[in-house]
Amino acid sequence: MTRYKRQDPEITRRKFINVAVGTTAAVGGVSLLSTLGTANPVFILTPDKMPPLKGDILVHAGGDTEGQPVRISELSTKLVRAWPMGKDKQGQSVIRKGDPNNLLVVYRFPQGQLVPPTNIQATIEGQTVAYSDICTHAGCSVGDNDQGTGMKCPCHSGQYDPTHGCIVIGGPPPRKLAQLPIAAQGENIVVTDFFLTMPYPYIHESEWEAFKKTVEEQLT
Ligand code: FES
Repeated sequence: MTRYKRQDPEITRRKFINVAVGTTAAVGGVSLLSTLGTANPVFILTPDKMPPLKGDILVHAGGDTEGQPVRISELSTKLVRAWPMGKDKQGQSVIRKGDPNNLLVVYRFPQGQLVPPTNIQATIEGQTVAYSDICTHAGCSVGDNDQGTGMKCPCHSGQYDPTHGCIVIGGPPPRKLAQLPIAAQGENIVVTDFFLTMPYPYIHESEWEAFKKTVEEQLT
């Protein structure tokens, strides 16, 4: 199973706060733009580090098909990892894997298996669903549970149920995996909005809301 680099939640949280409030601290991975005539510099997220955005297409995150669109018909009750792929301001395609916390999982369940608290309106035909793949405990990439149904984190055995909105069903994670709203675009999967709930590494709702606002401002 592919393991993705774990990020220290406190370091990542501080990075976010620096981005959100525009402090002068040096921030790895985020480009700095000095705005003429203002005392405070403005931090700009590069396109590959933007979170999944409305209009992004999901592409495979590994294997022979890495970078190719995830097709709805190829999905099953086994997870498929994906990255969001969008466009930069020049219209060039960008896979948003510059932030490992953008890693996603996609499932397709038989009709009727996906139930609340899954947001059914944010799935494709009540069968295809996407979530953050980053464990809310300490940021590891969550995989399928080989011992049964559901998902299991390899780091501290956190368990989630993807048929029930990825709620926590075991272990130390403090909250469910965030659901990403999606729709069909032919055989492709397109993102329709931000994550529906606060994803890792955010700890406070106010930080997540401020981050979304910062992203929206940078897109205008
Ligand atoms: S990082 Fe997943 S259970 Fe600890």
